[in-house]
Amino acid sequence: RVIKNVVKFGLVASVGYGAYTMYDQRHPPQEQGEIDPSKKTIVVLGSGWGSTSFLKAIDTEQYNVIVVSPRNYFLFTPLLPSCTVGTIDVRSLVEPIRFITRHKSRQVKVVEAECTDVDPERKVITITDNSDVKGQSSTSELAYDYLVVGVGAMNQTFGIKGVEQYGCFLKEVWDAQKIRTKLMDCIETAAFPGQSPEEIDRLLHMVVVGGGPTGIEYAAELHDFLVDDLTSWYPELAGKIKITLVEALPNVLPAFSKQLIDYTESTFKEQNISIHTKTMVKEVCEKEIVVQRPDGTSDKIPYGLLVWATGNTTRPLVRNLMARFPETQTIRRGLAVDDWLCMEGAKDIFALGDASATKYAPTAQVAAQQGKYLARIFGQLASQETLEAEVAAASTEEEKNKKFRKLQKAKDIKPFHYSHQGSLCYIGSDKAIADLPFGPGNLASGGVATYAFWRSAYISNLFSTRNRTLVITDWLKKTILGRDISRE
Ligand code: FAD
Ligand code: NAI
Repeated sequence: RVIKNVVKFGLVASVGYGAYTMYDQRHPPQEQGEIDPSKKTIVVLGSGWGSTSFLKAIDTEQYNVIVVSPRNYFLFTPLLPSCTVGTIDVRSLVEPIRFITRHKSRQVKVVEAECTDVDPERKVITITDNSDVKGQSSTSELAYDYLVVGVGAMNQTFGIKGVEQYGCFLKEVWDAQKIRTKLMDCIETAAFPGQSPEEIDRLLHMVVVGGGPTGIEYAAELHDFLVDDLTSWYPELAGKIKITLVEALPNVLPAFSKQLIDYTESTFKEQNISIHTKTMVKEVCEKEIVVQRPDGTSDKIPYGLLVWATGNTTRPLVRNLMARFPETQTIRRGLAVDDWLCMEGAKDIFALGDASATKYAPTAQVAAQQGKYLARIFGQLASQETLEAEVAAASTEEEKNKKFRKLQKAKDIKPFHYSHQGSLCYIGSDKAIADLPFGPGNLASGGVATYAFWRSAYISNLFSTRNRTLVITDWLKKTILGRDISRE
């Protein structure tokens, strides 16, 4: 038995040591991360879907890579609506950007800062530390050979008065936290002694503006929270909580097929979520919104919580960059790029994801595929430079021709091609809808089985094993213990 135990211990120890060595080797020593002057430097702006996918795929043996983002993490946005009611914890959806960079063969420099200006002539960017804690130095410049702009977009308000001041957006971690806190505040305030019936109705009226996927998924999550948890915690108030979705167009989810739009609208009806289509919000006041009805008349809708989800607009950085190229940058939606994602008018600036204006929808799928593609392009560019030097240095005609043929091949860079994997949307009561490409057409499905598919698709797309484990645990916790109603 002693020998057996010694052998067992030896085996466990050697497996453990092997795993530790492999883990240790994944951390490149600090000195390898020094900027190598013989290599070109790529500065990547942002740590979202596009930039992260680029970082994962770029070969750091060929380039010095620097990431600049005010967020030192990647956020898995498709499950963010679940964080607004506590189905999933926000920490389960984020992964530090250093988690990716430490797995690269050469160290990537990560700078937590916002890029505030790009000077394409000097090829430098200005960066500013906009976080709460600032040191002696909080503004600096970084030089680049190539710039990859993946700064995403910001919330569209169409300049409507009061939106910024009174509405809650749903784009970032802090937005989801703010919505959760404000929702519970509305409910607790409605429970305050002496509140008039009209004030209770107002406080318990949750209004969502925008019937795109963000608005729909938020309304769906809120409905589930109401039915699964709030009803038992606040029996005297639950029946008074109302959810209303306001959409300017004749129907919600314009990007989905007609059959799925009808299915969503009928599911929302069953769930008592009112949809006001052809209704445009004109102004947001502290306690009510002013809307224009389909017949052109104006109406006021009192609210307690207002979630604003009317799509994207360009960030100031992108607008300023576009202004430097007035002749070529004429699309207001974002940076105009060619088929190789190179910014029109600037040969060493590339743009991807929501910051760019392409024929594709601003989605995570598009941004992720563009990031991967761009990393491949940079690989080809590096090979071209090596081969050009080899052609010039070739000693014989035969060798020169051989290298030249290789160079021609490296120069043949295919344009970006997007492969659509389908669209998914959660609509509440354990139901989801899916529009999937199928042969020459589309396969549209909706219901509980689609929800199972929705869950498995997102679990497999999550960033890391850590994220997957946390999300599955959150789902289990919610099923067994319910959601937490504490106002944080
Ligand atoms: P982002 O992911 O927004 O990343 C932008 C990055 O740039 C961030 O790290 C930001 O901090 C950084 N940044 C901002 N300003 C600066 C600056 N000045 N300097 C440097 N860095 C800067 N799409 C889907 O395909 N499927 C879905 O299910 C889905 N669900 C969604 C759910 C929600 C709630 C939301 C809001 C969006 C969803 N989307 C979905 C859309 C998807 O999230 C976006 O299309 C995607 O995030 C775009 O990726 P991006 O890299 O362009 O930008
Ligand atoms: P969106 O642009 O898809 O929808 C915004 C909606 O708001 C539009 O239908 C518009 O008509 C409406 N609207 C605009 N102004 C209005 C007003 N004043 N009053 C009333 N309604 C008004 O925006 P969303 O949902 O934020 O999505 C942004 C991008 O992210 C899209 O490309 C979307 O596909 C993607 N996304 C995808 C998800 C998914 O696949 N499940 C989830 C969330 C976002």
